[in-house]
Amino acid sequence: MMSEGIVTVSYIIATILFILALGGLSNQETARRGNWYGIIGMGIALVATIVGVVERHYEILLVALVLGGAIGVLLARRVQMTQMPELVAILHSLVGLAAVAVGFASFMDPDKHYIGVELTIHNIEIYLGILIGAVTFSGSVIAFGKLSGRIGGKPLTLPARHWLNLGLLLAAIWFGREFVLQAAAGGGMEPLVIMTVIALLFGMHMVLAIGGADMPVVVSMLNSYSGWAASATGFMLGNDLLIVTGALVGSSGAILSYIMCRAMNRKFFSVIAGGFGTGGGTSVSADGEEQGEIVAIDAQETAALLADAKEVMIIPGYGMAVAQAQHTVFEITKALRAKKINVRFGIHPVAGRMPGHMNVLLAEARVPYDIVFEMDEINEDFPDVDVSVVIGANDIVNPSALTDPNSPIAGMPVLECWKGRTSIVLKRSMATGYAGVQNPLFFKENTRMLFGDAKETLDEVLKAL
Ligand code: TAP
Repeated sequence: MMSEGIVTVSYIIATILFILALGGLSNQETARRGNWYGIIGMGIALVATIVGVVERHYEILLVALVLGGAIGVLLARRVQMTQMPELVAILHSLVGLAAVAVGFASFMDPDKHYIGVELTIHNIEIYLGILIGAVTFSGSVIAFGKLSGRIGGKPLTLPARHWLNLGLLLAAIWFGREFVLQAAAGGGMEPLVIMTVIALLFGMHMVLAIGGADMPVVVSMLNSYSGWAASATGFMLGNDLLIVTGALVGSSGAILSYIMCRAMNRKFFSVIAGGFGTGGGTSVSADGEEQGEIVAIDAQETAALLADAKEVMIIPGYGMAVAQAQHTVFEITKALRAKKINVRFGIHPVAGRMPGHMNVLLAEARVPYDIVFEMDEINEDFPDVDVSVVIGANDIVNPSALTDPNSPIAGMPVLECWKGRTSIVLKRSMATGYAGVQNPLFFKENTRMLFGDAKETLDEVLKAL
């Protein structure tokens, strides 16, 4: 058995490593190192807890560790890059579920020794842990359904949904009060169970009411909730490291939600209240007939346009992830740079399906970081760009976000590639993007459509180059 002092020191070291991990992950060049800090920190935390805190039932712990570890390894090996956001959502749901389970276990623990005020405080911790955990659990399950396409992206807009939310919240508070009062007298299970059901419904309704286009905010928000759920679990178990780690995840998730809201030009509370992203509620016809003609080109013509350019901007989107075209993209970049053509990448903050999605793919293909720019850094430069290559991106280059106030993505800043000389859009069909709205960019005079799977067409472009 490790002494309490060693456990505390180990926990402090783990906390420092987690902070270093977060710092590292905020930059592409240090992200790998950040990941290692996190892994080592978690390793230290696990060993210190198993050796220094756990006192009995090692056999159950061993089974749980082997089972959980095996499932984790299997999932991580099997998951496709395009399924990452769903995996993250389902992992958040597990944190929520764990908080609920620990809450009920702490409540039913026959060995607990709290009395008086301490008991009340402990019961409030249990209540908060279960409340946040249940909201995180059901919300994340719905987010998983939406991200994996099992549930439609359209927001559920029940009549008087704000009143419904308020009603559920007030009911959860009222049953929480009942629970704390009854638990002081030895009861409390009934209001606790009712409160849990209400919290589950609240979480479901909250995420169901948010439209597809606002899912980035939901993903980061649930990330934050899962942190607070872990933190609440830490309070229930009296584990300092869990409290701190949960708070780190909770606050960094909150900052990420803020960044996502800013990227989409949304107010956080409006997103949470739901109803945005009504999917197709625009004045533009879905088949695009009113929009004008589209001009298709082939790989040879694309290569010729690129070879003639001086300034090229590559705009990757979700389709590049689907096609796994990032390696070919880099080969093309190298070929163009060898011809003294300036190639840059423009990354929209919500491109793809998770924060940093495109950066991860480009880093995997070893694209140098100094030619990868964030939207804010390069959006002014498009008038000087000769050719923008839009690879499997749609919503993030949709001009109607700026011009159509009825669009579900209205107000969201987009990469304004149409201001350049020519935009080449690579996609397989005229299908809409995630938000479900038609894109007037495809019908602009200076836009050329290169139809086909992005990897296959780019392979042809590379050959032609
Ligand atoms: P989308 O708007 O989803 O557009 C992707 C486009 O890629 C589609 O129009 C699709 O058209 C095309 N595509 C798919 N597979 C392809 C392939 N194999 N080859 C070539 N093209 C392919 O993506 P985006 O522009 O990156 O925008 C992201 C959207 O996702 C935003 O609405 C954002 O709010 C949402 N979202 C983002 C996140 C985060 S955190 N980033 C999380 C959840 C949701 P075809 O079918 O015609 O090929």
